[in-house]
Amino acid sequence: MDIKIFEGEKTPFYYYDRELLERTLDSIEACTAGTPMKVHYAIKANATPELLRIISARGLGADCVSGNEIDLAVECGFDPSKIYYAGVGKTDEEIVTGLRHGIGCFNIESIEEIDILSQLASKEGKKATVALRINPNIDAHTHEYITTGLKENKFGIDLSLVEEAVRKVKESDSLDLGGLHFHIGSQITISEPFRILCERINELKTKLRLNGTELRFFNVGGGLGIDYDHPDENPIPDFRAYFDTILSNIDLDENQEVHCELGRAIVGQCGSLISKVVLVKKGLEKSFIIVDAGMSDLIRPALYGAHHKIENISAGPDTPIKTYDVVGPICESSDVFGKDELLPETKRGELVAFRSAGAYGSAMASRYNMRDIPGYLIK
Ligand code: LLP
Repeated sequence: MDIKIFEGEKTPFYYYDRELLERTLDSIEACTAGTPMKVHYAIKANATPELLRIISARGLGADCVSGNEIDLAVECGFDPSKIYYAGVGKTDEEIVTGLRHGIGCFNIESIEEIDILSQLASKEGKKATVALRINPNIDAHTHEYITTGLKENKFGIDLSLVEEAVRKVKESDSLDLGGLHFHIGSQITISEPFRILCERINELKTKLRLNGTELRFFNVGGGLGIDYDHPDENPIPDFRAYFDTILSNIDLDENQEVHCELGRAIVGQCGSLISKVVLVKKGLEKSFIIVDAGMSDLIRPALYGAHHKIENISAGPDTPIKTYDVVGPICESSDVFGKDELLPETKRGELVAFRSAGAYGSAMASRYNMRDIPGYLIK
């Protein structure tokens, strides 16, 4: 990382490597061209408007989880017909926002929601396309806070209630059943859960067809993981393997599409949190690098025990290596970025990069301790 480009920037801030984002999008394009796979970007991962514009310019759709995300997606150039809206607790105001923008699909998460959406759509004089979000009961083998497809999760409609839900949607004059929606979790680094998901989808499709229900698309959700340990060796996820797993296991009819909504895999590796060393504190047993970024800027280590690769980007190549704990300034003992990190001997004023922070970094920043929300630089 050439730190000259960071001169004059107020730390901490997020740095986004535009070229890497473009190459990531190139790879998605190359792997999906000519296939029935339509890719949506999960805005929740990072809603920085300039990044959204880069992504929308490539023709991707948007997966939104709030009325504000829908407004922002439209403002940043996403085609409303490619905007999908998911969420277990959509408010009436948010649903109306979606209806008025004429978004492409509402992902319905409960039987109760069908009536609510039907009434609001009818009041607005609109016909809303819906996908039923089904809980496929699959273990995605990821962190318990980010697994979503198990029976006990709050997400989606239980498999046993699918037929009832389909019937209800068909009964409504203001709803049109477009497809089914699934999402099994996030940061999934093995292909097996995606393969099992396709099997569940195929079974369900056969079952619904027997009852005369034809669907236009299946949305397999997001969840493709990134390599947090080796961001330089694996800057772009293995999209080829991911799309092949889905496309070769899902059973599609002619004209049926498969949709996915990736967040982390698109923006994760292009972002780093850049922070300045406030001081190096020598404890009795350990030395601490205290940086000016904290869990308010990047909460993933404190919340999920996640580790973002830490680099001293100011140190010269021959600096001796020492062991440090790297911590933030916030009054919480969980405000720790790394323990026993091997880093070049570090001094006050040097810059440190927390890598692979493009997804769920700035998006989850807060003003805890009355701190500023970090700025950003895209270059
Ligand atoms: N679709 C749905 C319905 C989702 O709930 C999510 C993420 C995605 C798509 C995008 O998933 P992705 O491709 O980014 O894995 N804050 C956590 C991650 C929470 C993910 C929530 N849902 C983290 O920092 O690891």
